Amino acid sequence: MTGAVTVLGIESSCDDTAAAVVRRDRSGTVRILASVVLGQDGLHDAYGGIVPEIAARAHAEKLDMAVEQALATARLDLADMDAIAVTAGPGLIGGVLSGVMCAKGLAAGSGKPLIGVNHLAGHALTPRMTDSARYPYLVLLASGGHCQFIAVAGPDAFRRLGGTIDDAPGEAFDKVARMLGLGFPGGPAIEDDARAGDPERFRFPRPLLDRDGMDMSFSGLKTAVLRARDKVLAETGDTLTQDDRHDLAACFQQAVAETLAEKSRRACLNFRSSLPERPSGMGRPLFAIAGGVAANGVVRTMLADVSTECGFRFVAPPPQYCTDNAAMIAWAGIELFAAGRRDELNLVARPRWPLDEDPPSGRKPGRPAARA
Ligand code: KG4
Ligand code: ZN
Repeated sequence: MTGAVTVLGIESSCDDTAAAVVRRDRSGTVRILASVVLGQDGLHDAYGGIVPEIAARAHAEKLDMAVEQALATARLDLADMDAIAVTAGPGLIGGVLSGVMCAKGLAAGSGKPLIGVNHLAGHALTPRMTDSARYPYLVLLASGGHCQFIAVAGPDAFRRLGGTIDDAPGEAFDKVARMLGLGFPGGPAIEDDARAGDPERFRFPRPLLDRDGMDMSFSGLKTAVLRARDKVLAETGDTLTQDDRHDLAACFQQAVAETLAEKSRRACLNFRSSLPERPSGMGRPLFAIAGGVAANGVVRTMLADVSTECGFRFVAPPPQYCTDNAAMIAWAGIELFAAGRRDELNLVARPRWPLDEDPPSGRKPGRPAARA
């Protein structure tokens, strides 16, 4: 291990404005010195979803504050940073641009290196920051915009094994929450309601389990919940009791968790078969989860069980590092910095950026992605 590396991370690809300071010291110990997340609660409520223009403006207003708070909490100055890492995509382009512009300004003003980070790489590398995961490992990234199994072999070496063919599970949580009259983001609200619900009352589909492979689909499940809700409404004369809501939430959550669990089993077996013969003493291979949906307790428990059954070590980062944050961007920055990556001040903000594509230092234009 070389000297200590300290990086300021900036994240603004969706609706959280975040800044963080992370240090890897000489011995390899990771310290999250500050992680500030300024949400946009309330700003989008009237619109039933995130309005990109409102999000971008809010990022532009709050980024300086987030950076100042992060540096103050860490008791450090910009001059103490080795680099400035920023989410350069994928995401809502206005928000990504706000972050990239802010980072460029800081880098130009301080003379510090700038590093553009793929938001998905931030999620995928989180298990290394929180649990010292060793390469190679398998990660399920399940968030509001993404769902994929990724074999991670290095800070810039990702192989996608499978993923959703339509909606992301977080998106399904958000839409079902709206159907049930719950707030945004839907995941925590559904999880809360589901605690008091009967997960057996409605039988929702477990999509694509009848098909081989690791691809997933959540759009039909969402429609099944809508139909069940409408049936209850028709039977009861347009009222959804609290019990009905709890049961619908519990059955939906169960269907998502079971689907992720079965697909994870397949992904673990597939990943293990791709590994060279492991000498005894090398320990078990590792399966980790990341992204907002990984904050869900039922999902975490089921995937932990699958990992054990498949002979994997399981890592679920603390929930605040599963949902969007800038510590994961700073950490990815530390790894990329150590690998020699530096970006120029003409770093591009990218709305789409599939993980297994070349990094922007390779400067390949984005090929159209299924869902990145
Ligand atoms: O990773 P993230 O913060 O942002 C994206 O990159 O998308 O994920 C946000 C998503 C939202 O859809 C939210 O409803 C979901 O993660 N989420 C959850 C939970 N907490 C957040 N889903 C299920 N259970 C949770 N506890
Ligand atoms: Zn995310």
